[in-house]
Amino acid sequence: MHMTIGTNLKDKVVVITGGAGGLGSSFSRIVASFGAKVVIIGRNEKKAQAFAESLVDQGHEAMGLSVDVTDKDALVRAHDIVLSTYGKTDILINCAGGNHPKATTTDETFDPGHDGTRGFFDLDQDAFNDVFKLNFTGTLLPTQVFAKDMIGNPEASILNISSMSAYAPLTKIPAYSAAKAAINNFTQWLAVHFAKENIRVNAIAPGFFLTEQNASLLKHENGEYTKRTEKILSQTPMGRFGEAEELTGTLLWLLDPRASGFVTGIVVPVDGGFSAFSGV
Ligand SMILES: NC(=O)c1ccc[n+]([C@@H]2O[C@H](COP(=O)([O-])OP(=O)(O)OC[C@H]3O[C@@H](n4cnc5c(N)ncnc54)[C@H](OP(=O)(O)O)[C@@H]3O)[C@@H](O)[C@H]2O)c1
Repeated sequence: MHMTIGTNLKDKVVVITGGAGGLGSSFSRIVASFGAKVVIIGRNEKKAQAFAESLVDQGHEAMGLSVDVTDKDALVRAHDIVLSTYGKTDILINCAGGNHPKATTTDETFDPGHDGTRGFFDLDQDAFNDVFKLNFTGTLLPTQVFAKDMIGNPEASILNISSMSAYAPLTKIPAYSAAKAAINNFTQWLAVHFAKENIRVNAIAPGFFLTEQNASLLKHENGEYTKRTEKILSQTPMGRFGEAEELTGTLLWLLDPRASGFVTGIVVPVDGGFSAFSGV
């Protein structure tokens, strides 16, 4: 059988939270290039709309909406707009996420002589909650709102974005790590919950890609790599960051029911070997 992966996306309505971000903008471009109608969700209205307009200028169909993924009412309003414009949602990609410096410990491990400026004991609870909420609740709520359209649609699917920090947590970022571990668990839970409806639910766990949300951890203000970056690259057997476009094959495969129709509840690492390497 000859099949071109991705051609299933023609005229599908694909909602992408964080769809104008580093990885999300690549996902948006790819699905748009296969003829999907792309709904780009982000907090920053100008950014989401300008990005959607750039896709429209290239002959694609897209709209940008300003929505906080942790605000269910705002998501419901966005859903109404999607329904009145495109009539349905076929695919949801939960890509909004990120970390915040205030939810990050100064030191990698506890040092009794030096508890850093943001040690574990005085880590800001609100910041911790916000990061957890963005990454976990910010996946739960869009799924509750948009997956309703998918019932009875055999071509529907949901794709979550996890992280290497879901497996063995990275130092310094406990809230982000806990939330991404919860994403893996939730991906399995949802996959089982919706299996009989044929709504497949999978996730991609990207390794390290330089984007806005991790820039402050990975680069100094002068652009030079931090010590953490050197460590990451030394733990990534391929010895480099990933490029967003290197997620393309996994994305298209997981969204195409002809190619992955029996695949649900999995998390696929795309990480240059990071998760395979013991460090020795
Ligand atoms: N880059 C990596 O190495 C890497 C590795 C593993 C996993 N990931 C995951 O990949 C996903 C995308 O990250 P990225 O690296 O592409 O980061 P990014 O460039 O910072 O993009 C994140 C996007 O999420 C949106 N966003 C943030 N908070 C939001 C909120 N409350 N409501 C709606 N939208 C919100 C942002 O849009 P606005 O600014 O408009 O709100 C932004 O476009 C995240 O889930 C991240 O955890 C990234």
